[in-house]
Amino acid sequence: MQKDFINKLFSLEGKTVLVTGAGRGIGQVVARDMARAGANIAIFSRSGADETVRIIESEGGKAISIIADCTKAEEVKDGMKKILDAYGRLDVVFNNAGICYHKGIFEATYEEFRELIDINLTGEYIVAVEAARVMIELGCKGSIINMASISGTVAMTPQKQAAYNASKAGVMQMTKSLALELADHNIRVNSISPGYIATPMSVDPDFVEPELMAAWEPLMPMHRMAKPEELVGAIIWLASEASSYTNGIDVIIDGLYTAI
Ligand SMILES: NC(=O)c1ccc[n+]([C@@H]2O[C@H](COP(=O)([O-])OP(=O)(O)OC[C@H]3O[C@@H](n4cnc5c(N)ncnc54)[C@H](O)[C@@H]3O)[C@@H](O)[C@H]2O)c1
Repeated sequence: MQKDFINKLFSLEGKTVLVTGAGRGIGQVVARDMARAGANIAIFSRSGADETVRIIESEGGKAISIIADCTKAEEVKDGMKKILDAYGRLDVVFNNAGICYHKGIFEATYEEFRELIDINLTGEYIVAVEAARVMIELGCKGSIINMASISGTVAMTPQKQAAYNASKAGVMQMTKSLALELADHNIRVNSISPGYIATPMSVDPDFVEPELMAAWEPLMPMHRMAKPEELVGAIIWLASEASSYTNGIDVIIDGLYTAI
């Protein structure tokens, strides 16, 4: 009996994983847990992710923080070089960095719309393309996991967030297109679509008014948001050999939100 079968199937041992926007929130928890699964972690963030690196190193893992704005191709390319200097390879990307704002179509400026699309969609595109370039050059079998959202499938309510919803729908379709173009290079591309996850983006009272949180509750059939930890299993599955024939799909993790 191979008692370590599951460990081996889902292991990230020896893989280099890039997580973007991992200074806090979902990215921080996923980076920590991918390190627990054996990965060497690199983080792209705009202002440093020292706390995440400290958490991973305190558990005996390896992590580096690289300052790189995902919307800036030159910073992303430079970041890729830093990953190769540190680890010599790149196997997995968790393309997580993103922003959200709640403003109606007559309140948000066109500049705000463009900025959100630039971060949530163009930023993920730049990171995916530059990562694929590196993976192909090195001959690494890759897995890219893009962060979408159920907002890409349903228009969330009652908050007004047209730009965010559009960006996440774009991520899902971009994922399929990237997967098709990269299939011949042994690089798989999938996305995840979480429902409400308790992070600064969704529970910070400076960002989400208490009345809005109260309005969300009846729309959640499981009557709660998820913890970031509840996304980790799906992400490790998509990153590992366990999902070797899973390509171009979107995995919904929403506690039934879109089922009703
Ligand atoms: N929290 C939720 O309910 C929820 C649900 C579905 C999807 N998501 C998505 O999950 C991802 C992470 O969200 P979170 O809830 O952890 O939010 P968060 O605000 O806690 O984390 C997002 C991180 O991305 C970073 N970031 C933003 N723009 C960047 C850029 N240009 N370059 C590098 N880093 C950048 C931010 O600085 C921040 O550290 C986002 O893409 C978000 O849209 C969140």
